[in-house]
Amino acid sequence: MKILILNGPNLNLLGQREPGVYGTESFEVYFKKLQLRFPSVDLHYYQSNVEGELINKLHEVGFSFDGIILNAGAYTHTSVALHDAIGAITTPVVEVHISNVYAREEFRHKSLITAKCKGLITGFGLEGYAMAIGYLTGHS
Ligand code: DQA
Repeated sequence: MKILILNGPNLNLLGQREPGVYGTESFEVYFKKLQLRFPSVDLHYYQSNVEGELINKLHEVGFSFDGIILNAGAYTHTSVALHDAIGAITTPVVEVHISNVYAREEFRHKSLITAKCKGLITGFGLEGYAMAIGYLTGHS
């Protein structure tokens, strides 16, 4: 089973960026732990700060992978193009946010992508990615 974790803008700074909100662990370190925790899953990871690169990646894997876990960062709240890209592919997408976006500023309460995703996991820290893998491995 092939799963891509796709992280959007500023998530390359996890571990350094607002640790009170996003924690102190880098995604690279956490990704290695995920690989050990889910040895039977062929896990891939890609991060970009560029909206078009995220869309290109969705197109690239979105007809062949078994699942995509997408944390689109701030593009969640702004990107019609990501909404359309998720709608255009056949691979199921699970939306993940590390923080609880509903406990934060109002502009984070609206997601333009949730309607095209299987579901939304928000507020469980990095564990949300593991929860999404758990869902995808049981449902595809
Ligand atoms: C985030 C929440 C977004 O509102 C924010 O812009 C991010 C990270 C999260 O994982 O909690 O960059 O997606």
